Amino acid sequence: DPAARLMFIGEAPGADEDRIGRPFVGKSGQLLDKMIVAMGLTRESVYIANVLKTRPPGNRTPTIEEARLCAPYLYEQIRIVAPEIIVTLGKSAGQLLLGTSDSMGAMRGKWASFPPPSPLVPVEGMAPIAVMPTYHPAFLLRSYTAENRGKVWADLKLVMDRLGLT
Ligand code: URA
Repeated sequence: DPAARLMFIGEAPGADEDRIGRPFVGKSGQLLDKMIVAMGLTRESVYIANVLKTRPPGNRTPTIEEARLCAPYLYEQIRIVAPEIIVTLGKSAGQLLLGTSDSMGAMRGKWASFPPPSPLVPVEGMAPIAVMPTYHPAFLLRSYTAENRGKVWADLKLVMDRLGLT
């Protein structure tokens, strides 16, 4: 939804996303869909984007340089959608939006704000947007423990509270 109150930002398209041309349609996307439904929302009512717009060779983690090159496109998406809240999924999106090199564990579960004090790429004239960093669904699929699922659910509950969802 280009007028969504909530925006999710992942890392980069995978093979399925590259083939179909939509973000989060593979295994990670199926888990993200479940998370969205658990929040009482639908995929059609949120906006989903990625830091990178093309798949890195061999599906590797994007480099800082790649994130920097794609950032203006992502920032423009954020400017157009103007969501109330952004949930970053995983380290790449969290670090880019928070302008930090902190670990995932240090970023998650705490409200932050975009634009950050020192962005990797300058952001002009954008009103601050609340950001909640959490783990990437692909990480959850790899480490599907009660502890990790509990952490993600706790992060999403903070988002639900702020959006007034029950
Ligand atoms: N992982 C991502 O970060 N984005 C996608 O679109 C799919 C998998």
